Amino acid sequence: MDFQTVKGTHDIINKEARYYQSIESLFISVAEIYGYNEFRTPILEYSELFKRDAKDSSDMVRKQMYTFLDLGGRSLTLRPEGTASVARSIVNNKLYAENDFPIKAYYLGPIFRYERPKAGTYRQFIQFGVENIGIDSIYADVETIIMSYRSLKMLGFENLKLKINTLGDQASRDNYKAALIKFFTPFIDKMCSDCKERLKLNPLRILDCKVPEDREIISKAPRMSEYLSKEAKDRFINTKKLLDEVGIPYEVDEGIVRGLDYYSHIVYEFEYVSKSGLNVGALGGGGHYDNLLSEVGGPKLAGVGFAFGIERIYSLLKEDNLLPKLNDGFDFMVMPIGETAINRAFIVADYLRMLGYKAEAIIEKKSFKAMFHKAERKDARYAIMIGEEELKNNEVIIKDIKTQEQTKVKNTDLRDYCDNLFDDHECHCGCNDDDHECCEDEGGCCKHGKK
Ligand code: HAM
Repeated sequence: MDFQTVKGTHDIINKEARYYQSIESLFISVAEIYGYNEFRTPILEYSELFKRDAKDSSDMVRKQMYTFLDLGGRSLTLRPEGTASVARSIVNNKLYAENDFPIKAYYLGPIFRYERPKAGTYRQFIQFGVENIGIDSIYADVETIIMSYRSLKMLGFENLKLKINTLGDQASRDNYKAALIKFFTPFIDKMCSDCKERLKLNPLRILDCKVPEDREIISKAPRMSEYLSKEAKDRFINTKKLLDEVGIPYEVDEGIVRGLDYYSHIVYEFEYVSKSGLNVGALGGGGHYDNLLSEVGGPKLAGVGFAFGIERIYSLLKEDNLLPKLNDGFDFMVMPIGETAINRAFIVADYLRMLGYKAEAIIEKKSFKAMFHKAERKDARYAIMIGEEELKNNEVIIKDIKTQEQTKVKNTDLRDYCDNLFDDHECHCGCNDDDHECCEDEGGCCKHGKK
């Protein structure tokens, strides 16, 4: 039998996994600067957490959930998003009881949606997201926009487009929905079957329809901005003013309604088209919500957040040659010359790793040429060679792969010698500190501080 990955899923392995790690660690470090803490919630949740309302109109809840009965007959769902899980966790753990707001959560992990796979769209994909819960303020809203925008810029996205819209408060939305029902009813027989259903469930969803003939009708539909209450309008004006003040460029797009039902007020999405024209859909999106916490059994607390799709971000960085240079080469490749030296090579590599160096021993019989070929492939900086003579004299030969210079070193001097080799304080910790002062202190973050 030929085992394949499940449709819409994919392996992320080797170098690709390292790139994913580097993208994810940038998001995590930015989130930590903004005071967010990690929430690791289960991937499996009771289905009702996502299907809170029988009248939910989102495609995600109606058509895309991986829902099944477990052996005990309980309906479980593989999480189709992280926001509801964070809200549930806050309520279950009574985090609101301390009255210390905002509660700031970030999460990273797999998300499952039964969608038609295409470029940038998977059935299992990774999201990094944040939720800022407990303070109903444009400052909380804008903080999440700043944070998401800056994170994407730090990754190297230049012509990033931030699209924003407001869905107003409940009263604004009720008025707008009534206006949409009135507008679409005469056309609905000509529109797609999804739109017919959307008209009944939530006419706002029609604005998201991608069918070209429907789009023509939609382009003439009333606009949300005409139905905003005074408060909702002022809130949006103040949000835009604050974005201007902090220098975040945006475009107002009244077509951004977002695919989930819980939003109110600001909603936003990030778009990026590669230099060659590749568009894999939104890199991320989010917005404000008023009722989610109470819908999952908690107090009425507002929240705001966003989530990025890591696959989409990776594919566009790759497409535009923006992936960071990985610092993943070996410090040492330990090469036994002849089978009898394999044991010593193994022990030397273990010793070097204990000192904090990235080292690999070749543990099978290989020709000299093949060993150097491997060292090159693994981007090793130094080769450590051990032959009959070195075994006898308790020493090794250290060869600089770039300069080809080589030296004999006694085993007892190996540690000092290696420390001197790296005494140019080349930084391995990513601190980007030119003086590498972090290495000077005992216990500093570079490997040579870790004596
Ligand atoms: P979302 O817009 O459904 O929002 O998903 C966020 C991001 O996840 C998308 O912009 C996209 O990059 C990625 N994504 C979505 N579906 C797929 C897929 N099938 N394959 C690959 N990537 C995908 C949410 O999930 C909200 N929970 C965000 C949020 C947080 N709102 C408030 N707080």
